[in-house]
Amino acid sequence: MKALVLAGGKGTRLRPITHTSAKQLVPIANKPILFYGLEAIAQAGIKQVGIIIGETGPEIREAVGSGKKWGLRVVYIPQSSPLGLAHAVKIAQPFIGKDSFVMYLGDNLLRDGIKDLAREFNLKKPNAQILLSRVPNPQSFGVAELSGGKVKALEEKPKKPKSDLALVGVYMFDSTIFKAVNSIRPSQRGELEITDAIQYLIDSKKLVTPYIVKGWWKDTGKLEDLLEANRLVLDSMQSRIDGWVDKKTKIDGKVVIEKGARVINSTIRGPAIIGEHAHVENSYVGPFTAIYHHSKLISSEIEHSIVLEHSTILSVRRVEDSLIGQNASLIQSSIKPAAYRVMIGDSSKIEVP
Ligand code: TTP
Repeated sequence: MKALVLAGGKGTRLRPITHTSAKQLVPIANKPILFYGLEAIAQAGIKQVGIIIGETGPEIREAVGSGKKWGLRVVYIPQSSPLGLAHAVKIAQPFIGKDSFVMYLGDNLLRDGIKDLAREFNLKKPNAQILLSRVPNPQSFGVAELSGGKVKALEEKPKKPKSDLALVGVYMFDSTIFKAVNSIRPSQRGELEITDAIQYLIDSKKLVTPYIVKGWWKDTGKLEDLLEANRLVLDSMQSRIDGWVDKKTKIDGKVVIEKGARVINSTIRGPAIIGEHAHVENSYVGPFTAIYHHSKLISSEIEHSIVLEHSTILSVRRVEDSLIGQNASLIQSSIKPAAYRVMIGDSSKIEVP
């Protein structure tokens, strides 16, 4: 069995971060989202991985390299433009050949990994096995209708959903999927849809089975979901202090301080993580916050947020529910007149009190 990881795409819902960086490399609890997927693939015993890359390909290649770190052999499959999930499968055919494979969306996180479902797929040998999760708002997802232990139909964002089982971003296929992706036409939004390809399998009387995930699953395509994934992962961490913490600092709950980090005269209330060589001084870091490497937080308060690398937050009264990009500065200034002075990237969203 091989793995196909999708790390291209447009990432419009995460602009402006995705104007300059790959959304799959945004850190969740200080580890790029994509790495969780690669770990899950390695844990399932899969060795050969093809990664679909788009405009952010160079950054993905640099972060993942040969895959040796996870015991994987990674090849990169450039996609000319994001023409859909089924298009990604289509261009991966030379890599996959006659093998079966797991397709993993590079911005998805599954608490329990994919070991059990890979085992079930190998045991039952259906043509496709799709992962489903119960959701309170099926109207916003691709939804599956089941009958007699099989998937009977799929519907994209139905107004009247026939179940609460949403399609999770992980699928398993045998090579019959290639006939399907080569037979379907682009949808109204101009993409080759994986739901249409799976529906094609169902209509051709192929066996499509469901696998309902028990642990949490998160698609991190939007800010709220990224913050929630960060919260869920931080919550399951073990405390560890490898950095330097002075005597005046108060640490409550589950907190990780990475090596080279310095925390001075501050309160860190976990679950929270302070990355390598980060500097926190005269500050409060509240629950569900991840501060990535080489960032600075001075005389400020932050909670339920993600700060990327090499950023500075200085004398800011309170930051909450936020994602701060790389090399960004959020600074309270004493220059008169007192005013907001900003350089905000395209499609940014800023809320001020
Ligand atoms: P999506 O999140 O569905 O699409 P997107 O990345 O274009 O984002 P947005 O809707 O915000 O514009 O994609 C799921 C995953 O699949 C994500 O990791 C990107 C990847 N992908 C590809 O690699 N190629 C593609 O053609 C598409 C559509 C997505």
